[in-house]
Amino acid sequence: MPSPDQAKPDRNLALELVRVTEAAALAAARWVGRGDKIAADGAAVDAMRFVLDSVAMDGVVVIGEGEKDEAPMLFNGEDIGDGSPPQVDIAVDPLEGTRLCALGMPSALAVIALAERGSMFDPGPCVYMEKLAGGEDIADLLDLDRPLVETCKLVAERRGGSIGDVIVVVLDRPRHEEQIREIREAGARIRLITDGDVSAALLAVSERSPVDLLWGIGGTPEGVLSAAALKSMGGQLLGRLWPRNDEERNAAIDAGYDLDRILTADDLCSGEDVFFSATGVTDGDVLQGVRYRGKGATTESLVMRSRSGTVRRIQATHDRSKLREIAGGVERYG
Ligand code: FBP
Repeated sequence: MPSPDQAKPDRNLALELVRVTEAAALAAARWVGRGDKIAADGAAVDAMRFVLDSVAMDGVVVIGEGEKDEAPMLFNGEDIGDGSPPQVDIAVDPLEGTRLCALGMPSALAVIALAERGSMFDPGPCVYMEKLAGGEDIADLLDLDRPLVETCKLVAERRGGSIGDVIVVVLDRPRHEEQIREIREAGARIRLITDGDVSAALLAVSERSPVDLLWGIGGTPEGVLSAAALKSMGGQLLGRLWPRNDEERNAAIDAGYDLDRILTADDLCSGEDVFFSATGVTDGDVLQGVRYRGKGATTESLVMRSRSGTVRRIQATHDRSKLREIAGGVERYG
């Protein structure tokens, strides 16, 4: 039994992280539909970094904006925070779905996750992984070695329906054409998305979701971020590294990665105390995007902590002129 002192609730970093993703979403939202994904991403990174600096922690970016020479901020290996405990790994995607934002399409998000130091999977040279995700009640049916169509049948059976009831969300990419054809031939249905498989993973594991499974080859960083959310939401995400070419394959093998290994959400994020926050940039299935109301703006965020399993949906109203003042007159928050 914990002593009364140990049993006291402690700091929930996710409640501080929501300010970080809100700031990134507000900044990126200025660029919605303006056709400039680089500017949108830059604004989100700048705002995220600015607010992240105010979180007291000893953090290191494990999943960031790339290597130091190509990313001026939030690069892999960057130290974040004032150095005070806790020691944490940080995974960020200041703008998940840069194209979605630039084109004004649904489901662009600002995302961050934090977990104990050393507990997040470092994808090294592996840009992509094959992913399969689904909710708690079908978690034991997920298997990357079994043909996907067979899994769809098992899911239908478990959920008391037929294969025609099953919907798989898939990134619309040429590399998925054959699998898409097989799914359709088997009678299952597909929701194609142009981008944003973090949002799709959250949708696939949500209760009462219209979607049963997420499948496809997408970003490894997005896989780690999705896994961090699943630690609170439940469900499962399996991943298997997917090198794009021989050079990447050899680099991964040389660095000690096992390319046949099937990674579970726990392998991707093994922490016991995982914090996650995502704020909508554009409206989507999972979150409402930023809305402007005169001088103000509203945001919606999903905020989670795995230790307690609490998942909060936070709606916030922001006064843009006050935020600008706080940011020293700079238009960081849109
Ligand atoms: P960005 O936010 O970096 O644009 O990534 C969007 C995304 O669609 C991810 O959700 C997905 O995992 C990945 O890109 C897929 O990569 P690609 O576009 O190269 O197929």
